[in-house]
Amino acid sequence: MTDWANILEPYEKLLQVRILGKSFRVPEHNLFLRCFQFLEPERVPHGDFCWNAECRNCACTLSRGGVARPVLACQTAAEEGDELTALSPQVQQVLAGVLKGR
Ligand code: FES
Repeated sequence: MTDWANILEPYEKLLQVRILGKSFRVPEHNLFLRCFQFLEPERVPHGDFCWNAECRNCACTLSRGGVARPVLACQTAAEEGDELTALSPQVQQVLAGVLKGR
């Protein structure tokens, strides 16, 4: 069983975000990569991620407030209304199940 209290930053509510056009609810105050783990707790920990801004395997394109920019999911906290419009192959791989199922 996942010990969320030791994995996620403390949060009180879930944010609405979109990933490749699909809606998800993820915990506030948390990095996107942690949010991906929240969505796919079995797959993300086994993904090819350094969690430390070195491998760039978590690169995504974030659209926030109408402005799109490249970000690293391990360095960028999710905010309400964020949209990820492009994902690295490694992120696509670990999120394939939830992206397909919606
Ligand atoms: S996980 Fe390696 S740069 Fe983000």
